[in-house]
Parts: sequence; C-alpha cells; structure tokens
Amino acid sequence: MNTPHGYFLTLEGIEGSGKTSHARRIEAFLVQEGCQVLLTQEPGGTRAGEQIRRILLNPAHGELDPFTEVFLFQAARREHVKQVIQPALHAGKIVICVRFTDSTIAYQGYGRGVENEFLVHLNRVASGGLNPDCTIFLDVDPEEGLRRSMAKTSADEQRFEQEFQIKSDLLKRIREGFLHLAREEDNRFVVISSMRPREIVFEEIKETLRRKILSTRKGKLGWKA
Ligand SMILES: Nc1ncnc2c1ncn2[C@@H]1O[C@H](COP(=O)(O)OP(=O)(O)OP(=O)(O)O)[C@@H](O)[C@H]1O
Ligand SMILES: [Mg+2]
Repeated sequence: MNTPHGYFLTLEGIEGSGKTSHARRIEAFLVQEGCQVLLTQEPGGTRAGEQIRRILLNPAHGELDPFTEVFLFQAARREHVKQVIQPALHAGKIVICVRFTDSTIAYQGYGRGVENEFLVHLNRVASGGLNPDCTIFLDVDPEEGLRRSMAKTSADEQRFEQEFQIKSDLLKRIREGFLHLAREEDNRFVVISSMRPREIVFEEIKETLRRKILSTRKGKLGWKA
C-alpha cells in the first residue's frame, strides 16, 4: 500500500546519528515552506505505544529475548500506524517518522539474527503494508554515535546503549544492515553522513527535501492554501 495523499518520510540510523534533532529541524523547515506536517517517533506515538516504549528502553528490564523485542515493537507500530500515521496521511499531511520498519530489519534481523522473511512479514502486518516514500539514513560511526547518545539519553532509557557498550560488534552489524537495505532500495533511501557538523548535514537534508518533496508538491495536498 502506498501513501494515499500525504507523504511518508522516515528517518533511520543507529543511536546518536542525529535522527531526533534533525527531525525537529525538518519539521520547522517544511512548516516554513507552507506544508502541513506531523512529526512522530517509534516506538511510541500513541498512549499504548509510549508505554511499550518505556518497557523497551528501560535498562531495568535487562536483556529481552529477540522475539519479545520484535513483538513489542510491532504492537506499538500497529497502533501507531492505525491511530496516527494513516489518518495524517489521509488528511494529506507530510508525516515525518523517526524509525520505522527498516529499524526492525536492521536491529532484530542483522543485529540479533531473527530471520529476515519473518520480520518482513510481521512488518507488513503491523504497518498494514504502508511503505515510506523516502527514508533518510543518517550514517554515523558506531563508537561516535554511542558517545553522542550516552551524553544525552537519560539513565532510565539506556537499555540499548548499555548493551551496545558491552557488545561493540552488535552496533556495527546493525549499521551494516542499514547500509545493505539502502543499497537494495536506492530509490527510496538517501544516505547522508552524520560525521560532519550538523549544519552541513542539515544542508544536505534540505537539498533532499527540495528534490524529493517540495519540487513536486506545489498545489497539492500537504500544502496550506
Ligand atoms: N553532526 C553532529 N555532530 C555532532 N553532534 C551531533 C551531530 N548530530 C547530532 N549530534 C548530537 O548527538 C546527540 C544525538 O543526536 P540525536 O538525539 O538527534 O540522535 P538520535 O539518532 O535521535 O539518537 P537516539 O537513537 O539515541 O535517540 C545530540 O546531542 C545531538 O545534538
Ligand atoms: Mg532519538
């Protein structure tokens, strides 16, 4: 299923790659350009989803079985798509979502070794077949990303970061997974290096938004009159 009227933009990347901070800048930029925008994130975006997010991020829950992780993420995703993302797209908005189905393949697939076909199937069920129109992958070196992320994430939300500090190979595999996905679907993905100053990174993001969204949308839904 493709997006009915609006535009579905996802931001992907490992911890500390700049997804959240650039998502906010993207929102401000698109609003300034006259677009109707909804910014949201996974896991979360609904009340039930935010509760699930807390379960997933809290280090007190220790190491969770990979399938437990998969099911929790997918449960949150299903609610998110039905309650928030699809209605906004139907209303013609540009939806910016931090993390989506690609994170499942990268983290639980490439990272934790859950079978790819199973994850693809679950992704399809949870998302109702919704695919991003464009995915910006912010690429950062795993050590640098982890450093940035630890510096700003509160201690009660560092379950993943704490595990990655112990298992340094895990985050490398996840990054490789994302890069593999980006090569497989190079029409949808735009890979942007986040190893440079944020202003330069954001200039490249803006160039992408102009090319992929703004140049084709004048006069269409998603624009204020
Ligand atoms: N290009 C950059 N150079 C230096 N620091 C950066 C850059 N981009 C982002 N940061 C900083 O790195 C930290 C992590 O960024 P941000 O929270 O946006 O990443 P994230 O991908 O959302 O991470 P997480 O997965 O942990 O939520 C923030 O403090 C942010 O200001
Ligand atoms: Mg973030």
